[in-house]
Parts: sequence; structure tokens; C-alpha cells
Amino acid sequence: MSDTILICDDEELIRWSLCEHLEQEGYRTVAAENGQQALNAVRDHAPAVLVMDLKMPVMDGLTALRALRESDHDLPVIMITAHGGVESAIEATRLGACGYLTKPFDLREVSIAVKRAIAEHRLKREVHYLRTQKHQNYADIIGQSPAMLHLFETLRRLERVDAPTVLIQGESGTGKDLVARAIHSRGPRSGQPYMEIDCTSLPEQLMESELFGHERGAFTDARATKRGLFEVAAGGVIFLDEIGELPLTMQSKLLRALENRKFRRVGGVADIPLNAAIVTATNRNLRDEAKAGRFREDLFFRLHVVPIEVPALRERREDIPALVQYFIERLNKTFGRAVRGTNAKAMELLAAYRWPGNVRELRNVIERTVILLPGDVIEPGDLPAEIRVVTTSGDPQQRVFTLPEQGVNLEALEADLVRQALERAGGNQSAAARLLGISRYALRYRMEHSDKR
Ligand SMILES: Nc1ncnc2c1ncn2[C@@H]1O[C@H](COP(=O)(O)OP(=O)(O)OP(=O)(O)O)[C@@H](O)[C@H]1O
Ligand SMILES: [Mg+2]
Repeated sequence: MSDTILICDDEELIRWSLCEHLEQEGYRTVAAENGQQALNAVRDHAPAVLVMDLKMPVMDGLTALRALRESDHDLPVIMITAHGGVESAIEATRLGACGYLTKPFDLREVSIAVKRAIAEHRLKREVHYLRTQKHQNYADIIGQSPAMLHLFETLRRLERVDAPTVLIQGESGTGKDLVARAIHSRGPRSGQPYMEIDCTSLPEQLMESELFGHERGAFTDARATKRGLFEVAAGGVIFLDEIGELPLTMQSKLLRALENRKFRRVGGVADIPLNAAIVTATNRNLRDEAKAGRFREDLFFRLHVVPIEVPALRERREDIPALVQYFIERLNKTFGRAVRGTNAKAMELLAAYRWPGNVRELRNVIERTVILLPGDVIEPGDLPAEIRVVTTSGDPQQRVFTLPEQGVNLEALEADLVRQALERAGGNQSAAARLLGISRYALRYRMEHSDKR
């Protein structure tokens, strides 16, 4: 389809000759008699270029141009100025007119100006597009591995589709929070609210009123009516973190809300439409949880419509160098340091480690190392013990360690591993014991044992 050129001049003869000429050149044309009409025509006809006179009744050219720019319109505008109107021409250029023609003008000049305006505008658009494309590479989510590129592709698709529910699955520390935020900030609901709630953070009764709100007097403490997150976040995105931990009764209530796209406040009778998109995340395998009866299967299927897997760090070791560099640069800024990076051996160790705590653990390790680092390059000796001890096998069941040349302090190493396992498991002894491949009792024994030392 050919480009449309909008001609705006109060002199009929000029309008007519310009339209005639540009149509011969293969453009479509639309004419307006003053600035106001031009603004309407911009809205209705989406022209590629506007050729506009400065002096017109009702609304002059400068006023119309200013109005266009104020509404953030980047339409190329060519101004027609009377002979000698230099000041207005300067003002027009300042307002972003891409050129001006001085009356009386040659029609060939008009063709050239229009052609150039279209070409320049197209180029600008392309540069802008490339910039946003680069931006769309999710600058704050580091990763070039096939698994991450696949994830980015899914995220990019979600920018155009307004998915009502999304399920993000991945081990702890893989970046599920980052992914949830990206879905909101790059998606069709980006201008709308984003609300996060951790399903482990509240007891069951409070959770219901937190999500759905409550009417005054619904329960003892309900002194006033309160809107829930589902209501407050209307039009936006709600991020339900650790959805696997949601109590079964809340699971049914959530399912009902999702299926009917409406809900009621606690103690309320009015239906409130559910206008928020629901993004959920879990570090459990929700399908297994459903099979084991700990998670409602119907809710699982409802959430699983758009599933996103965030890969564990050990499944994309090729991302480790970039992540290390990224964290070092961030820490340099925060702490005013000038750490340059790691040497080859240290990077080898970092890339070989199993990272059960994934990117979060990597970030913590780099943070600890950078803060304590005497020089400006990280060497193997600067890294924490667990990373210096290379396992000869990636298989945790085999637990074969290569003794470092300088030897180890076995008791200290054991106490350190126990402490780390507990840290990583957030104090949960069963989970910590699993990380160490021992029973909970064996872990208890070691905890008491190391206390006495
Ligand atoms: N690909 C990545 N690029 C940069 N930073 C990352 C990446 N993945 C994770 N991080 C960082 O690692 C930390 C942990 O990530 P996040 O909180 O998103 O993990 P999570 O999967 O939500 O973990 P949990 O299951 O424990 O809630 C955050 O500081 C996050 O910014
Ligand atoms: Mg999280």
C-alpha cells in the first residue's frame, strides 16, 4: 500500500496542486484546511508525512505541531513558510519539523522533501526497533545457553499473548522471581499493577482475606471492609510464589475463582470479576505433588496451560562465566571495587561445581569472594571450600572427592558443609540432610557434635 501524505494549507490552490502532484508520484493524499483538521486527519488516516503551512486560521501550523509532539507523536512534518519567515522556521525545527519549504516552492522540491522524510523516519524506526529488540533480550536475565534461549523465546511469545495463568517451575534460586517480573514488565499488562504474594507467608485464614478481601464483620478482626489483592490488582498481574505450599482449601477457592473469572470477598455476597492475570511459581514438581494428592490435580491442569521451566544452573554451565562477570560488575559498583574477574583455574572450579542453590548460590559466593578479595583477580584460593573441592563426578550419589594438594581439615569441612546445607535449606533439617545424603538423625548428631567442638 502506498504511503499517505497529509496536506494542510488554508489556500485551496496550494492544497490542490500539492495533492495532484504527489498523487502523480504514487502517494495517496488527504487534505486539511487548518491545524485542527490536520490533527483529526492524523488520527483518522495515519499519514506517513504531514506537509503543513505555518499561517492558517483556526489553528496555525506551529500550534498543531506542538500538539502533535505533546501527544508524543513522531510523525515527520514538513513546514511551509512564507518568504522571510525565518524565526517561525527555526521554531518549527526546534519542535521537530523535519524540514521546511519556502513559498513559492518548486513542486520537485516537495517530492524530494517528502521522500527524504519517509526514508529518515523509517531508519529511525528501525534503530528504535533494534534497540527494543536488544532490550527484549531480557538484559537483567543473564543466559545464552540453549535452555535459556528457549526460555526467552517463550517469554517473547508471552509479550503478545495475554495469558490468564502461567506456571513457572524450577529449583530454588534459578530465577523464577525474575521471570515472573519479566512477564509483567514486558507483557500487555505492564502499565498495570504487579503484586507478589508468597503462599508460605500467611496462615490459611489470612491468606483468603488477603487474596479475596473481606467485608466488615466477616470475622472478629474485620472492622472495616478490605479489598483483596485480586481486586486491587485488577488489570494487572498477581504473582503467587510457592504455589505448591498453598493449603488445599485455598487451592479449591483459587480454582473456583480462576474457572469462573470471579470471586467474593470473605463474608460478601457480591461477585467481583477477576481481571488480574495470575502468574504462579513453585520449586516443587507440581505434577508429582498432584499425583501424591498434595496438590489439586484440576488446579494443576488449570495452571499448567502455560508452563515455563527455568533450568537448573548445572544444566547450563555455559552461562556461568557470564553470570560471574555480571555479578562482579554489579558488586564493583555497589562496593566501589575494581575486581576484574577470575583467573582460568578459578573459573574452571566455578563451572564444575554442582550449584544446588543455583544462581542465588552463585551470586552469594561471588559476593562473599569479592568483599573479601585482597587483589583484583579471583583465584582458586579465594573461593569457598566447597567449590575448591572438586567432585570427580557430577553425580551427587557418588560423593567422590579429590583431595586438594594442600590437604583438608576434615572436621572443619564437615562442619562447614553441615552449616551450608542448613543455610541452603532455610533451617529445614530434613531438606539439609537430603542435600548431604544422610539421615536426619545423622545430621542432628553432627550438628550437636560440631557444637561441642
Ligand atoms: N539468569 C539470571 N541472571 C541474573 N541474575 C539471576 C538470574 N537468575 C537468578 N538471578 C538472581 O539470583 C537470585 C535468585 O533468583 P530468584 O529469586 O529469582 O530465584 P527463585 O527461582 O525465585 O528462587 P526461590 O525458589 O528460592 O524463590 C536473585 O538475586 C536473582 O536476581
Ligand atoms: Mg522466588
